[in-house]
Amino acid sequence: MMEGVLTASSLQCDLVWILKSKENNIKDSAIIHKAIERKLESLDERIGNVRTVDHEELTLRIDNASGLVIYEGSKIINPPKFVIVRIGSGILKSEFHLPLLMHLEYMGVSVLNSSTACNLATHKFLHLQELVRHQIPIATTFTYASKELGDVNTELIDNVLGYPQIMKSIHGNQGSKVVLLPSPDLVSEMKNVLNHEVPYLFQDYIQESHGRDIRVIVVDNKVSFSMIRSSNTTSVKANLSAGGTAEVVTGKYPDAEELALKIARVLNMDIVGVDLLFSDCTGFVCCEVNNCPGITRPVYSGHGIEDDMAEMIVKRYYGKNYKCKNDDLATDTSSECSV
Ligand SMILES: Nc1ncnc2c1ncn2[C@@H]1O[C@H](COP(=O)(O)OP(=O)(O)O)[C@@H](O)[C@H]1O
Ligand SMILES: [Mg+2]
Repeated sequence: MMEGVLTASSLQCDLVWILKSKENNIKDSAIIHKAIERKLESLDERIGNVRTVDHEELTLRIDNASGLVIYEGSKIINPPKFVIVRIGSGILKSEFHLPLLMHLEYMGVSVLNSSTACNLATHKFLHLQELVRHQIPIATTFTYASKELGDVNTELIDNVLGYPQIMKSIHGNQGSKVVLLPSPDLVSEMKNVLNHEVPYLFQDYIQESHGRDIRVIVVDNKVSFSMIRSSNTTSVKANLSAGGTAEVVTGKYPDAEELALKIARVLNMDIVGVDLLFSDCTGFVCCEVNNCPGITRPVYSGHGIEDDMAEMIVKRYYGKNYKCKNDDLATDTSSECSV
């Protein structure tokens, strides 16, 4: 079949998409969507539309005549100027989502967080590797390249970490794949029932942080929110989804917030939830980062995390012409979408 160069039938180009998964909590994208709408309505001019888009609706195409093409349903569409990725680490997988994020980037979209940042953030070893290269404190962590846990040199790891030690999957979230190993017996007994599709990490157990951590949300190089999470049980995990309770501490732990800002910069993340463990030696150590930190629980409400995301979009749209929140905005026609 012969086709010419493919173009979208409409010249319209959205300002921003909130890119979500059908599996997502619908409230999450709705909160952000409304905040961006509010922000856009407060401006003197309409700079574009905001849309919530399910990634399942998108199909990617590449060919020599047209280059990169994107369909929504069966319609060729223009990509937006910005995409806010709201696909949680439990869903976002490099095999499925990286081609989509990269496709959008190659089409000129500013993807927040970028494909590279999402890829690092959703792999617990890859981002710790990057952080350690920048002298950011982490807990000593081992992983392996073998497909079989039985081939792993656990004796070496045990000699360094001792027991108890932490074992976690490289891809877990909400505390679902984190265990405190009391002794070597558990892993050897469970070898045959564990899922070996992705590797595990073995990590130094930071005892002084047992059942307690600090989650800092950074948006556009600014701390939006911090909370201490504490487990209500004897569990090592402080996750709210594992039954933890939250105390909002924004501005009260400047060292933790400073560290979170540095982590966001090193990993080049526009929106990030940084989990920090309390450490007697260094104050705080990075536990992990989240590319799509939750914002729907009541504890987040009224702290303006979504408003910071909206502010980031407008700031990036106007670039150097953007003064600050309530200043007059100079119009810059060169930043309009090219179609
Ligand atoms: N090395 C560790 N030492 C002590 N507690 C830990 C350690 N690693 C994780 N935890 C606890 O387990 C929780 C979940 O671990 P995390 O790596 O953040 O996985 P998830 O992605 O499932 O949230 C952390 O919030 C923290 O409370
Ligand atoms: Mg976590």
